[in-house]
Amino acid sequence: MKFQNILVTTNNNLAQVTINRPKKLNALNKVTIEELHEAFEALEDNENIKVILLTGSGEKAFVAGADISEFANFSVNEGSSLAREGQEMLFNFIENLSIPVIAVINGFALGGGLELAMSCHFRIASDNAKMGLPEVSLGVIPGYGGTQRLPQLVGKGKAMELIMTAGMITAADALNCGLVNHVTTQEDLQSLAEKIAGKIMRNSSVAISGAIKAVNANFEDSVNGFDIEINEFGNCFGTEDFKEGTTAFLEKRKPNFPGA
Ligand code: COA
Repeated sequence: MKFQNILVTTNNNLAQVTINRPKKLNALNKVTIEELHEAFEALEDNENIKVILLTGSGEKAFVAGADISEFANFSVNEGSSLAREGQEMLFNFIENLSIPVIAVINGFALGGGLELAMSCHFRIASDNAKMGLPEVSLGVIPGYGGTQRLPQLVGKGKAMELIMTAGMITAADALNCGLVNHVTTQEDLQSLAEKIAGKIMRNSSVAISGAIKAVNANFEDSVNGFDIEINEFGNCFGTEDFKEGTTAFLEKRKPNFPGA
């Protein structure tokens, strides 16, 4: 895969996607969003990949937001399309990916950058990271799912305050309010990400994809999450991974999941 604004590397079962516009603090322009979609789609089709890490290049930013220079002159209709197409193409797409995606927040995660991190399955951050949704300071609101996913993660009151003040919080505050799961030094961030990915990769990838669907169903109005859980639970009983997992337990050995 050849991309202009992102880097994609794979190492055995682990993939890393790096947004690579450090001079623009990795701001998300149209091309970057399209390339990210293409990369995630290809990685999901690659049966070797069990975990994807998403990060930003350089030491300053994960992503400093949607690229303001691209939408500054948009009309109402163009604004709606920007949000709708971005949500469908990237943010909802990542959230519903069958492979776990971890946001590795290595610096500023602002606006669309925080929204991107929030569409990942969970987040870890370096201690220099700053997070926020500054859109109202530009006269706009978050449009890539931020008004929905931030309250899911931190609660309504905290989300309202962050959005209304357009303020930034530190990594330590983000850890306190549940926005990120772990904080470490910038130096140790990659190894922490790989350590967590390693723990995930030991488990059944088929079961994990079922769990992603069931957990996500909790946040969808149109479906009953308990029903989705029952369905996904039942499906596991027809998988080779389930046979291997239960057999290995009974034989007192570590499972070697075929991922099917
Ligand atoms: N869109 C487009 N360009 C952006 C950007 C964004 N969201 N965020 C940063 N950049 C660009 C800057 O314009 C600058 O480009 P230039 O060197 O060609 O002038 C470059 O990235 C470096 O940013 P700069 O502002 O000089 O760095 P800083 O260290 O002084 O400030 C921030 C860092 C993150 C506080 C500041 O860049 C910022 O506020 N960015 C916008 C954040 C935002 O509002 N995001 C939500 C968008 S909806």
